[in-house]
Amino acid sequence: MSFYDDISKAGIVPVVVIENAEDAVPTARALLAGGIKFMEITFRTACAGEAIDKVAKEVPEMYVGAGTVITVEQAQSAVKKGARFIVSPGFPKDVVAWCQENAIPVCPGCVTPTEIIEAVKCGLKVVKFFPAGVYGGIKAVKALASVFGDVKFLPTGGIDAGNMVEYLGESSVIAIGGSWVCTKKDIRDHEFEKITKLSREAVDTIAKVKEA
Ligand code: 3PG
Repeated sequence: MSFYDDISKAGIVPVVVIENAEDAVPTARALLAGGIKFMEITFRTACAGEAIDKVAKEVPEMYVGAGTVITVEQAQSAVKKGARFIVSPGFPKDVVAWCQENAIPVCPGCVTPTEIIEAVKCGLKVVKFFPAGVYGGIKAVKALASVFGDVKFLPTGGIDAGNMVEYLGESSVIAIGGSWVCTKKDIRDHEFEKITKLSREAVDTIAKVKEA
């Protein structure tokens, strides 16, 4: 199975901001206990690389990737630490090229038809749609999908338990992303049981949408 089959099956890729590397493993275990097998650890904190390294080594069943990747150096360092996929909020062409040369799955952020055309030209079939809520939400995804039939979207930004179903109901949405199942505050406060509970609720909702 490819990375894309796996995220499509999972339906959710939490966006995780780790402020203290020691929190990475318990957060990964809390997500896993709730049924979530993917996590995108963002390069928004100094310890992102160390956090990826710890999860890759200590929780090998977690499919860990790096998010908020803006430079090739970050992508290289993330992959060295064990990141299995790269996500970017925008479209850094050099990062996409490096990932493709090294067979690392990459999801650049695209919100305009022009950016999506660039992604298609690079041979990409999955793009991040960020910040989804601000750029028109599910209405925008549907409009873009009607033009780019082969492209799948990973919307993130403004998605939570209250609106996840409207995104999941759209066939062009490969999976949803977001931080609501493991907020920065919950991680900081070591609310790992809460993270597991929110993860399980999200996974149950995804299963119900898939069954319907
Ligand atoms: C992202 O990087 O995708 C977003 O920061 C996640 O957005 P959210 O915090 O609104 O879920």
